[in-house]
Amino acid sequence: MFEKLYQQPADKILALMAQFRADPRDEKVDLGVGVYKDASGNTPVMRAVKEAERRILANQSTKSYVGLAGDPAFSDVMIKLVLGDTITHDRIAAVATPGGTGAIRQALELIKLADPTATIWLSNPTWPNHPSIIKYLDMPMGTYRYFDNDTRGVDFDGMIEDLGAVAAGDVVLLHGCCHNPTGANLTEDQMAQVIAKVNAQSAIPLVDIAYQGFGDGLDEDAQATRAIAAGFENCLIATSCSKNFGIYRERTGILMAIAKDADQAALAQQNMSFLNRQNFSFPPDHGARVVTTILQDAELRLDWEAELEETRNSMLALRQQLVDELKRLTNSDRFDFLAHHRGMFSRLGTTPELVEKIRVDHGIYMVGDSRMNIAGLNEKSVPVLAKAIVEAGV
Ligand code: LMR
Repeated sequence: MFEKLYQQPADKILALMAQFRADPRDEKVDLGVGVYKDASGNTPVMRAVKEAERRILANQSTKSYVGLAGDPAFSDVMIKLVLGDTITHDRIAAVATPGGTGAIRQALELIKLADPTATIWLSNPTWPNHPSIIKYLDMPMGTYRYFDNDTRGVDFDGMIEDLGAVAAGDVVLLHGCCHNPTGANLTEDQMAQVIAKVNAQSAIPLVDIAYQGFGDGLDEDAQATRAIAAGFENCLIATSCSKNFGIYRERTGILMAIAKDADQAALAQQNMSFLNRQNFSFPPDHGARVVTTILQDAELRLDWEAELEETRNSMLALRQQLVDELKRLTNSDRFDFLAHHRGMFSRLGTTPELVEKIRVDHGIYMVGDSRMNIAGLNEKSVPVLAKAIVEAGV
């Protein structure tokens, strides 16, 4: 039977990761996959995570199953982290998932179960795995303009115009913060207009929030998601703990569904648990337990927040250093947009040919659409990147 298989398209980000590993150059720089790295290129286990793991190891008395939705305590702390007190708990259904990707996948499966004709609208561009999963699930898909390649900011007029084509019952995927891959984000006022527009189309938002705490701060980065949640009767939120807790390989995420009332939330909850059972049965527990341990303990939480702030500030400092260096080399402020972007990524806004040239000539790896992982830089590699950008003629 396997002869009937055909080659699947390679994931661009993961293919780049393999290409980087195979490059023998010592001075190579990885600005590809969205993983935080400190100045020495290491992706550390956060202090609070280490301590939570130590406590779990010492105190855990069983590894028996928890529940199809995961530990309710994990749902509680995550709802609070993402939504604060915006929505009453009885309107929220939640299931733990294998990472943020698992949450996206389960959200799409839930949409498909509820309305297989609903079109999922994605920003152009978006994280490449969004369209990939939607295509795999054979769901209708549309795109709305998002990035203005001239300003390297949001093409807000284009976005609003394109959202005019969204039909009643369709789903609009919005990035909660730190837009991946561009780093360009809506202002609070623009988000309010998007909420009004999506509401006017009688569509439902699906929020992907994978980088809370990497942009302007934990609460600041949740503002858009909270405004969306408060602005609709129905809403889906896919959340990842991979980045802000640095527990990438533990696969820790959560899908939240906000329903119009408690009865519909209970129905959504039952369906989401059913979907977990069909796809992988019980969700992974270790990462969720680590997150719960940290968020329930005042001291661990403070330490986690402090380390997350260090991480966030180090990325902001690298952005500024890169902007300053580019300003020095070009005698212009045309790269200032990099300082306005937020999160792990910035889209340089250049061609795949120049991205390839920078890779070949300088061993600097960014995704073909010119997405750079700012956290892949350090003080030494910033000038190297700036020089490469200018030399390539970006
Ligand atoms: C990324 O965009 O690089 C991350 O979300 C990692 C991934 O799985 O693609």
